[in-house]
Amino acid sequence: MASERQAGARLLATGGGKGGVGKTFVTANLATALARLGKRVVVVDVDLEGANLHTTLGVQTPQRSLADFVSEREEDLGKLVVDTSLPNLRLIAATHGNLADAQPSHLRRVRLLRGLRQLDADVVLLDLGAGSHASVLDYFLVSDDGILVLQPEPTSVENAYTFLRAAFYRRMRLAMVGHGVRQLVTMAMDQRNERGIRTPLDLLREIEATDTAEARRFVETMRVFRPRIIVNGVRTAEDVKLGFAVSSVCKKYFGLEAEYIGYVNYDDEARQSVSARRPIVDLRQDADVSIYLQRIARKLLGLPPSSGAAGAASAATGPTGSEIQAGGNR
Ligand SMILES: Nc1ncnc2c1ncn2[C@@H]1O[C@H](COP(=O)(O)OP(=O)(O)OP(=O)(O)O)[C@@H](O)[C@H]1O
Ligand SMILES: [Mg+2]
Repeated sequence: MASERQAGARLLATGGGKGGVGKTFVTANLATALARLGKRVVVVDVDLEGANLHTTLGVQTPQRSLADFVSEREEDLGKLVVDTSLPNLRLIAATHGNLADAQPSHLRRVRLLRGLRQLDADVVLLDLGAGSHASVLDYFLVSDDGILVLQPEPTSVENAYTFLRAAFYRRMRLAMVGHGVRQLVTMAMDQRNERGIRTPLDLLREIEATDTAEARRFVETMRVFRPRIIVNGVRTAEDVKLGFAVSSVCKKYFGLEAEYIGYVNYDDEARQSVSARRPIVDLRQDADVSIYLQRIARKLLGLPPSSGAAGAASAATGPTGSEIQAGGNR
């Protein structure tokens, strides 16, 4: 994540490694909730190989899309923005991508990220694709807030750690100045490296032994790298606790402060809203799942939970009671 809040729109990215965990669902609904809170939002599908954000927002396959920027047919991202049916909420889709060469080059990505901040909006939300490819990681790292979405399943948790690990080392490699130290970071990325560097803290010890200025930079980069965690598809109180467990592993293993900003319950209505091509936050504002999502949106803006939402959420079906009260959605 960016080391300091930069001028322009606030950039949020939703990633998480594993496919199908609800990144697009969460992004579309957080965008809707933020728009309802009066923010001017542009939501951007950067999943060029699996574009479907437009569908969750009920927008018919837009002719203009990010693919035009990637293929250098359009330089002005502002011209790729299309309206949705919701006030304050606009979209850059990823439709009509070039199947032969979907991903932007590194240089193009840098320009894209610069352009996204300059969009005429308060908040720009990026919906990332699955996996830990460099292009996905860059969006996550450059954003003001990188949000990790995971499901309460071991496979999802595993992939989330892989994603974080990859993001962490990529961030560190970019932050380090000296060639030797960068090589050390690259070496640490191979989990079986012969120097026996197994964890980021091992790596820090190695760097401290060779270059104290770089070690200070490393620690500072660690301090400002603050991923947020959302657990989606929660069914039990145990599921709710997962966010805390991941957050504490981040602290212990990576030395990272990863804040658990909330959970979203599993709800058949959530699935139905996707079929209806409308965000559930718009379709049924008082559904439990909408209440949780709106609460996370308020938290992202630093607003207190609205009293109506808090009351309704504690009466929610599924993961309820004191466990939930102690959960991430405070
Ligand atoms: N909280 C939820 N309750 C019930 N169903 C959900 C929930 N969240 C997501 N889903 C269902 O899971 C499906 C997949 O979610 P989504 O497309 O958002 O995943 P994704 O992480 O973006 O996948 P990909 O990696 O392929 O982009 C949704 O279409 C929806 O039907
Ligand atoms: Mg998706």
